[in-house]
Amino acid sequence: MKQTSVDKQVIKFLLLEGVHDSAEALIRSAGYHNIEREPASLDGQALAERVKDVHFLGIRSRTQLSAEVFAAAPKLNAVGCFCIGTNQVDLHAARAHGVAVFNAPFSNTRSVAELVLAQATLLLRRVPEKNAAAHRGQWLKSANHSYELRGKTLGIVGYGSIGSQLSVMAESLGMRVVFYDVVTKLPHGNARQVLSLDELLEVSHVVTLHVPETEQTRMMIAAAQLKTMRDQSILINASRGTVVDLAALKEALAAGKLLGAAIDVFPVEPASNKDAFECELIGMDNVILTPHIGGSTLEAQQSIGREVADKLVKYSDTGATVSSVNFPEVALPAHPGKHRILHIHRNVPGILSAINQIFADTGVNVAAQYLQTRDTVGYVVIDTDTEYSGQALERLREVPGTLRTRILF
Ligand code: NAI
Repeated sequence: MKQTSVDKQVIKFLLLEGVHDSAEALIRSAGYHNIEREPASLDGQALAERVKDVHFLGIRSRTQLSAEVFAAAPKLNAVGCFCIGTNQVDLHAARAHGVAVFNAPFSNTRSVAELVLAQATLLLRRVPEKNAAAHRGQWLKSANHSYELRGKTLGIVGYGSIGSQLSVMAESLGMRVVFYDVVTKLPHGNARQVLSLDELLEVSHVVTLHVPETEQTRMMIAAAQLKTMRDQSILINASRGTVVDLAALKEALAAGKLLGAAIDVFPVEPASNKDAFECELIGMDNVILTPHIGGSTLEAQQSIGREVADKLVKYSDTGATVSSVNFPEVALPAHPGKHRILHIHRNVPGILSAINQIFADTGVNVAAQYLQTRDTVGYVVIDTDTEYSGQALERLREVPGTLRTRILF
């Protein structure tokens, strides 16, 4: 595909699931106007039909992109997940079809951190119980087991984007911060990294979880860890539902070991707002239950729209794949006065020499070349000095193992 400003009108974006207007605005400001939008997700035949001629597809968490969908989308260059998770996409199939997948890992960090601090404040004051009682006509005016945040220890498990931001905010409110992470991290402010999860659990008044879902984090907080926690402490989970054993948590809360808990994520979550929510903690006044809305703010949606749209536009304009979740990452300078050829191929020996042989045969001088591989896929970007050689591009497409080629001016 040759890409000029005229061709930008041809390049088609399909944005599903009511992606924020900020995405369309950014794509348009980059010169792309062939944009279709749908308020909901699509599936089955309807999805296969719509992706047939689409170059860039935007989804949120509901649209399932299987190998069949990629097979039905021969022109698809990239998928933008306007959310954090990418479980809804078969990333291997995407890679095998030469389709780069992007997401927005950082855009709702602040929203989660703010909610956690608010939950910690409310739980330390036992507001959820007093609020529930007031709704039943009971007056629970008491300072018993009600505390300020100031001077309390916040234990952050997972000191990544969210954990580290929370650390700064909590310290600004006068909390002491300790954190546990499998990676040695530079602490912000006066935060202190501890060497074991148990050490964190023993000293923290509030424990908050910000780890990814992995084999190691599955049921990371179960009966034994709850037992290790300080008496009358608080547990907050806005990470992933599999990280906490909810049955064990229920017992710890019922026994008065914990003062309260806030749970935003669950092992099984309703697929839509129409489906019923089930959880063993329903009915416990000292538990704040929220429907996975840690990162759900309008500010986050707007920022996700911009973050992902920007990645799609950069990939379309320059071939840059920085922060792609499934593709070799290539950071590329602009290419003024050059032609840029993108070649995506199966990661097997001999491809690069076959490509370079074609340039030698067709007399095209190579100004710069960038190669990255990731698992089964290789991505080479070649900036050339001379006029675009149609013959070279045709021959590049014929190199065995080629998945996709593009040329940018
Ligand atoms: P991140 O990738 O920036 O940080 C995760 C941290 O956890 C890293 O520092 C990593 O080294 C650490 N870690 C990994 N395995 C660990 C282990 N076994 N023990 C201790 N530390 C471990 O992730 P980010 O953006 O901070 O997100 C954290 C979690 O929050 C993720 O599970 C994400 O899905 C969830 N999340 C939930 C949202 C909500 O709406 N409730 C919104 C956004 C993210």
